[in-house]
Amino acid sequence: MKFFVDTANLDEIKEAASWGALAGVTTNPTLYARIGGKLSDFHHHIQRICELVAGPVSAESTASDRDGIIREGRELAKLASNVVVKVPTTIEGLAATRTLANEGIPVNMTLCFTVPQAILAARSGARYVSPFVGRFDDISEHGVAQLEDIVTALGNYDLSESGCLRADGKREHIEVIAASLRSAAHVAQAALLGADIATVPFAVLKKCVEHPLTTAGLEAFNKDWEKVKNA
Ligand code: E4P
Repeated sequence: MKFFVDTANLDEIKEAASWGALAGVTTNPTLYARIGGKLSDFHHHIQRICELVAGPVSAESTASDRDGIIREGRELAKLASNVVVKVPTTIEGLAATRTLANEGIPVNMTLCFTVPQAILAARSGARYVSPFVGRFDDISEHGVAQLEDIVTALGNYDLSESGCLRADGKREHIEVIAASLRSAAHVAQAALLGADIATVPFAVLKKCVEHPLTTAGLEAFNKDWEKVKNA
């Protein structure tokens, strides 16, 4: 499983990238609003993120009709070669995704909750699909079970004819991004059930590294090493 960081905060992205294991970034309008982002700076901000990471950077279209999503998608794709256009899993989103995918513009279909939505995203040419785990938990549903069903269902089919067009004329296979992850336990479950990617908020990413037994073990080693140095 690859790790993406789910944030628009440049300091968090820089820090996460410095750890050496970061494969990409996902953003959304809420995450951009959270850092005080302005509309006039949005494109420039996405370009700055794209300079910090070599991997895919998802930037969301905010249009609701297919023509608007296609127009915004084309503009976003021009910002950097690693931009992925984030498109909601709606009828208009599916139609726009097919057009963008046929132009070789990778799409991350977001706000996906069910197996039929995920299969339709794959059939419309999405490069990635993002099932949301935590938001299901928020309404007392089992988000991890839904994610597992989506991974299983997509694995049942050869989707190689449907995906985003590549420069060599072949089509990319869709990858599942486990999204809306709220804990290291969510991340572990996503890995165990075979999600291709986990997109993780920075605070949760830190929790994926830190463990009380690691901290306690390190403290004990350091203490004992002091004894060795003083012996
Ligand atoms: C995914 O790409 C989304 O940006 C994100 O995971 C949403 O998570 P939330 O439900 O915590 O807002």
